[in-house]
Amino acid sequence: MALTNSAQGYGTLTKFFHWAIVILFAAQFIGGNIMTAIGFNSSFAGIGTNDYYNWHKSLGLVALAIAILRILNRQLGQLPPWAPTLSKREQGFIHRVEQVFYLAMLIMPVTGWLYVMWGDYGVNLFGVWEMPRPLPKDDTLRDIAKWAHIGAGWVLLLAILGHVGLVLRHQLIKKDGLLKRML
Ligand code: HEM
Ligand code: HEM
Repeated sequence: MALTNSAQGYGTLTKFFHWAIVILFAAQFIGGNIMTAIGFNSSFAGIGTNDYYNWHKSLGLVALAIAILRILNRQLGQLPPWAPTLSKREQGFIHRVEQVFYLAMLIMPVTGWLYVMWGDYGVNLFGVWEMPRPLPKDDTLRDIAKWAHIGAGWVLLLAILGHVGLVLRHQLIKKDGLLKRML
């Protein structure tokens, strides 16, 4: 299998980045909602709130690094031709959703990071390194970053539902094997 994309299909790198981000986004959505739902000084499934926050912030920054590599990979390489079973309208829809995805891959971690910097909460990366806090505490900017993080999360969720819905419609109803292109 080729490392980079070609006229024959997506390369190994694109597939690796795709599924790595799927796993990280799933962890971020699940963990993010658990930690905000249980509140401070609490625990869920044997894991304390602080640990949820730490893991959420740390994995979010890993997702940012992977997103940057993924964008470079997409910019440097070519894209395979559209799957022949996609209509023109579906191609347009996928194109828009992919724009939302690439924006969200940057906006989610950046707004999260700005939130904890302006809030002066900091990031203790995987519990081993207290990262520097280059921004001064600012309650107004903290709240703006927080709501941008939460709002962008909802937009991202809608885009994921549209994307997965389209893939599953092709895979299960039209049975054209669209999913195989990313496996
Ligand atoms: C791929 C990246 C990320 C995704 C998809 C993501 C997603 C989410 C979601 C779904 C929530 C729950 C929102 C709610 O309903 O309250 C959340 C909350 C939060 N996220 Fe992230 N996040 C990401 C990265 C980050 C990063 C890098 C940081 C910090 C360095 C961060 C800090 C936070 C904080 C502090 C909250 C709690 C917000 C509150 O107090 O309500 N996130 N995130
Ligand atoms: C966090 C959720 C997801 C994101 C952010 C995402 C993002 C993307 C992006 C940006 C592409 C275009 C190729 C690229 O630039 O890498 C793509 C293609 C694809 N994705 Fe996802 N995806 C997600 C979840 C899923 C899931 C859960 C499935 C399977 C049910 C899936 C199946 C596919 C398939 C089959 C393609 C290739 C479509 C084609 O032929 O062009 N994706 N995805």
